[in-house]
Amino acid sequence: MCGIVGIVGNVPVAPLLVDALKRLEYRGYDSAGVATIEGDHLDRRRAQGKLVNLENRLKDSPLSGTVGIGHTRWATHGVPNEVNAHPHFSENVAVVHNGIIENFRALRDELSADGYVFTSQTDTEVVAHLVSRGLKQGLGAVEAAHKAIARLEGAFALAILFKSETDLIVGARNGPPLAIGHGEDEMFLGSDAIALAPFTNRITYLEDGDWCVVTRNDVKIFDINGAPVERAMQHSVGSALLVDKGNHRHFMQKEIYEQPEVISHTLSNYADFGTCEVRGSEGLPFDFAEIDRLAISACGTAYYAGMIGKYWFERYARLPVDIDIASEFRYREMPLAKGDLAMFISQSGETADTLASLRYCREQGMHIGSVVNVRESTIARESNAIFPTLAGPEIGVASTKAFTCQLSVLASLAIAAGKARGTIDAEREHQLVRDLTEAPRFANQALKLEKQIETIAHDLARVKHVLYLGRDTNFPLAMEGALKLKEISYIHAEGYAAGELKHGPIALIDENMPVVVIAPHDRIFEKTVSNMQEVSARGGRIILITDEKGAAETSVKTEHLIVLPDMPEILTPLVYAIPVQLLAYHTAVTMGTDVDQPRNLAKSVTVE
Ligand code: M6R
Repeated sequence: MCGIVGIVGNVPVAPLLVDALKRLEYRGYDSAGVATIEGDHLDRRRAQGKLVNLENRLKDSPLSGTVGIGHTRWATHGVPNEVNAHPHFSENVAVVHNGIIENFRALRDELSADGYVFTSQTDTEVVAHLVSRGLKQGLGAVEAAHKAIARLEGAFALAILFKSETDLIVGARNGPPLAIGHGEDEMFLGSDAIALAPFTNRITYLEDGDWCVVTRNDVKIFDINGAPVERAMQHSVGSALLVDKGNHRHFMQKEIYEQPEVISHTLSNYADFGTCEVRGSEGLPFDFAEIDRLAISACGTAYYAGMIGKYWFERYARLPVDIDIASEFRYREMPLAKGDLAMFISQSGETADTLASLRYCREQGMHIGSVVNVRESTIARESNAIFPTLAGPEIGVASTKAFTCQLSVLASLAIAAGKARGTIDAEREHQLVRDLTEAPRFANQALKLEKQIETIAHDLARVKHVLYLGRDTNFPLAMEGALKLKEISYIHAEGYAAGELKHGPIALIDENMPVVVIAPHDRIFEKTVSNMQEVSARGGRIILITDEKGAAETSVKTEHLIVLPDMPEILTPLVYAIPVQLLAYHTAVTMGTDVDQPRNLAKSVTVE
């Protein structure tokens, strides 16, 4: 998603804006730009593509202003080119925007009728002209900005710069996040604390409907009616963390390798490894024993984590779970019971569809729990109970460590729910927690398979389609594997429940179709073997990910065999995720795609 930065500073800010934008690169973008006040006029440099192009522009033609705004654009309205790149200008005003202005057509017609000429295809340009018209009508800068913001419908975060105001940026938030960074005799705006990390860790997050007036020594925040509001300043933890690749080639690879540590970290937040007890549900604003149904919704990888969670909550806690893709859930008018629990899973905590589903459930009187990686995020702030994943910042667009941390939380919570509902006794609880404590060790062993997987990836990089199959908790993992492969390698991939193969997808099987089968030797291993036989009989090429027992007992011919150690059942989706991620990663590396920022994708999807 687009990234926003603003600085009211004392030295030339263009290079600082670009540095901050680099820290937002992980969100995904296709063009970038900065604008500063240059003496008596506004000036800007913009470039299509990566930030290095913008840096080259600035090298050839530097900007020297000490107040400025910057932007990385993820195209929604209009193609990703320089003309559509932000900042957008209207005479005395420059604007950067994240989100979608839903009433932009009506505003555009109105402004065109008033003589304003549009130079881009974006929805954002209406904001610049609206503010500019207010100035022409004699309003002061802040008033003109407020009046314009009040006309906007949709989701937006904005930063507005004025030619005549060398000590002012106006920001606004309605949907996508915007944070104020407090400095000494300088002030900042940014899409998140990571962007502002080099400048400050003193952060104030705007809430929906807030707009703010930021000057070197002061910040004022107002609601949409113009009434002042107080928002707490926080010391951001995330901002203190260094965001770099270490010795790894890509953030994604680094994040895959961080998994043993972050899984352990996350699990220890929910279970006592000494006593082998889950930390239980004391202190929660709801009681698992009193809940009849659990509604989970999320998007993308987080949705697949939720699907795996469904198996666990139903198996261990006998708690029925409805699992939905958030973009469907928010509109499908599902009957929901007051007092039941709704759970939302999100790495960023800002995903627009997930947030809208949360708000819908809150209106229905449900308890709201969220599994989030960013504790200061909107989803976290709007929940009654936060279940943090302790994955640290995830920069690669393809989610890896956040996924396994989400699974760690969900497995622990399912055990806690089972304990509260009396569906598992103390002995079973201790056994399951003991099993979970082994996750980091098995995750480490899975990482050792990287070399072998890299070789297999060389084969996969030559194909056009891949099928992933699994059963039970490995069925959602099959879909996650397919998602991972398609998003970073651009190879078409689908994940299916292995038993569903003969109901349609088997028609696709021939000697050109690799089939990745995720099949630990569990209760239903034999069933999956039958499905592999069906694939093999039709000439399909099987890449089997299994354990030692599974490898020993497979009679089916496989093209590649990835063998993990035997492990407790509850661990398999957590640990098998690693070879699945590595396979996608090395396929993409072999194909030479942009692994960390794949085309068309954004890290944090703050629009519908
Ligand atoms: O931040 P969230 O977890 O809410 O994001 C949800 C999806 O957009 C995200 O998981 C997406 O599918 C990833 N790119 C998958 O790797």
